[in-house]
Amino acid sequence: MRRKVIAGNWKMNMLPNETLKFIEDLAPLVKDTKNEVILCVPFTDLFYALLAAQGTNIKIGAQNMHFEKNGAYTGEVSPDMLKSINVEYVIIGHSERRQYFNETDETVNKKIKAAFEVGLKPIVCVGETLEEREAGKAEEIITTQTKLALEGLSNEQVENTIIAYEPIWAIGTGKTATNDDANNAIKSIREKIVEIYGQNTANRVIIQYGGSVKSTNSKELFSMSDIDGGLVGGASLKAEEFSKIVD
Ligand code: 13P
Repeated sequence: MRRKVIAGNWKMNMLPNETLKFIEDLAPLVKDTKNEVILCVPFTDLFYALLAAQGTNIKIGAQNMHFEKNGAYTGEVSPDMLKSINVEYVIIGHSERRQYFNETDETVNKKIKAAFEVGLKPIVCVGETLEEREAGKAEEIITTQTKLALEGLSNEQVENTIIAYEPIWAIGTGKTATNDDANNAIKSIREKIVEIYGQNTANRVIIQYGGSVKSTNSKELFSMSDIDGGLVGGASLKAEEFSKIVD
């Protein structure tokens, strides 16, 4: 049985004082869960989040990083910088980064490799646009994104990669994929991994659903055969609501 992983993606929200309060409120609400709980917070909140999460079962992730080790890349943050303060996870290739910041399948692949080099665990996002879905291309798009993201990784690295299937039309829109559509999309991602890395590896990969997940739809979504939890945006900004999703 794969574990369930519930990750919050705060995007560009929350100040340090709000981060401290949030984790103080969330920790007692999720302390008994058997699911894995991750909060992916803005760079400026990382240090505070890590301090507040000490001694709890809440793990902390970043939302992006550069693939280079260091150098003249003004405004960027390196894998080592995250690792050095004990960040555990990093979101890579979120659709908002692909859409607004020129992230490509190639940079996504480089970033995943760079993350593993320093021991960070990547949460890699894939997903189709509404036009792609309506044109019947969703499966092709997400399986290709998956293949290109994982290119050159070892089986062990693939097993330690979390994939988040986030249909772009469902992000922040209140529209959720149906349970079956989300499950089928995730199955197609898993089948692609079977094709390249074999059944054993594919069985071990955590694949989440993301896109307007909230406490009223999470139970059904996460009960589907192939959905191993969620990457939650808006609903991860309120401790009580997020704790219900974890629950
Ligand atoms: P929402 O849950 O706000 O739709 O965001 C999903 C998302 O992009 C998580 O990474």
